[in-house]
Amino acid sequence: MSKFRVAILTVSDRSSQGVREDTSGKMIEALVTAKLDAEVVAYHVVPDEQAQIAAVLQVWADDRVADLILTTGGTGLAPRDVTPEATRSVIEREVPGIPEAMRAASLAVTPFAMLSRMVAGTRGQSLIINLPGSPKGVRENLNVVLPALAHGLDKLLGDPEDCAP
Ligand code: MTE
Repeated sequence: MSKFRVAILTVSDRSSQGVREDTSGKMIEALVTAKLDAEVVAYHVVPDEQAQIAAVLQVWADDRVADLILTTGGTGLAPRDVTPEATRSVIEREVPGIPEAMRAASLAVTPFAMLSRMVAGTRGQSLIINLPGSPKGVRENLNVVLPALAHGLDKLLGDPEDCAP
């Protein structure tokens, strides 16, 4: 049995209509299973609708479906990009260092990194992190935060150990 349970929410009008294959969700699954002691326990695709995105995030957190919830897509400036707003409406504590680190590292790769409004935060004992919609954006951003996630999830799940060695 894996230590952490991961849920993946792909936010895309086209993928939800079945006209675009969700390669970004598959990229998330490949990375978390390779680099975390984790298994993917839930996967869903929704259109760029704030209420639908928020509803899935809320159920996954409140029903303790997953420790880590990763979204992909809908973080940019297009009129229908509302994933950050949906995420903010459900999180109880923002974790600004996660998107700060992702944007800082991504800016070394592409100036377009500043166009992602992705956010991260906790609801109950779930950590929710937004990622951009492209597989390249997923890979470049998720690789930045993966080294810190096991420790962060340990803490979120109640590990009482002192962080100091
Ligand atoms: N960050 C990295 N590391 N690599 C990328 O290719 N794409 C950018 C940005 N962040 C990208 C990235 C682009 S082109 C956009 S428009 C924004 O993420 C928002 O993407 P989204 O609307 O698909 O979420």
